[in-house]
Amino acid sequence: MPNSASAEIRDRGDLLQVRALSKSFGGHRAVHAVSFALQAGAIGGLIGPNGAGKTTLFNCLAGFMKPDAGDIVLGGVSIAGASADRIFGAGLARTFQIPRPFPEMTVLENVMVAPTAQLGERFWANWLRPGQVSLQEQHTREAARHWLDFVGLGELERQAARVLSGGQRKLLELARVMGAHPRLVLLDEPGAGVNPALLDQIVDKVAALNRQGTTFLIIEHNMDLVTALCDPVMVMAQGELLVSGNADTVLADPRVVEAYLGVA
Ligand SMILES: Nc1ncnc2c1ncn2[C@@H]1O[C@H](COP(=O)(O)OP(=O)(O)O)[C@@H](O)[C@H]1O
Ligand SMILES: [Mg+2]
Repeated sequence: MPNSASAEIRDRGDLLQVRALSKSFGGHRAVHAVSFALQAGAIGGLIGPNGAGKTTLFNCLAGFMKPDAGDIVLGGVSIAGASADRIFGAGLARTFQIPRPFPEMTVLENVMVAPTAQLGERFWANWLRPGQVSLQEQHTREAARHWLDFVGLGELERQAARVLSGGQRKLLELARVMGAHPRLVLLDEPGAGVNPALLDQIVDKVAALNRQGTTFLIIEHNMDLVTALCDPVMVMAQGELLVSGNADTVLADPRVVEAYLGVA
């Protein structure tokens, strides 16, 4: 049973390997010597109390922060310290804990923007050129429509993104990253602020995409979502990987219960 702080790293079938990854802010060790592997085709869960270092780990994986030490291997290639654009190009896409769509752009336009656009506005400046609509833009538009329909937001495509509810913004983000056909998708709290009906929809969509071959790693506090989708589940506390295993095993582990009670 994989229950040590450093989960077993297999060489075959792993899409992602995280090796002794560390990231500090000043003297604060937000992520400390975290190691785990995720097989291609899996839906991994990443849970733990607030402040455990989950989002910081995602930021390092997706190139939004440079790790201080350790390695990140995607499909056999080290991506540690590479730029967000390069990592995205290598097939790793992420969503944000707090989605910030461009509020005055339409829902459709938001899906057409490159998913790293939250880094800055230069991306949409690239394609929002006046004048001729290129063939590539038409393709981008069709693909964006496909993914909006897939997540159930097709009818809202002409609305300004500011009208979307929190749950709809989570679905918009899913549509936005899927357009790039990523191999690995990191979802940061897809269920946060989402009503139960939309949550079921998100669970269904993730499961459907996974059946088609997309690998996921999901940070989530909603244990119904974690139990329904995730195996393995990794538990972080105070920057370290505490336990990993299937949902039932880790949720019954006294160390996990203690970690949650410790910050209650
Ligand atoms: N950009 C940052 N600068 C300084 N400290 C940060 C930064 N991001 C996160 N932290 C700190 O690192 C720790 C882990 O945060 P975070 O990764 O957001 O945790 P989680 O997502 O598990 O709630 C927290 O103590 C947080 O305050
Ligand atoms: Mg977080």
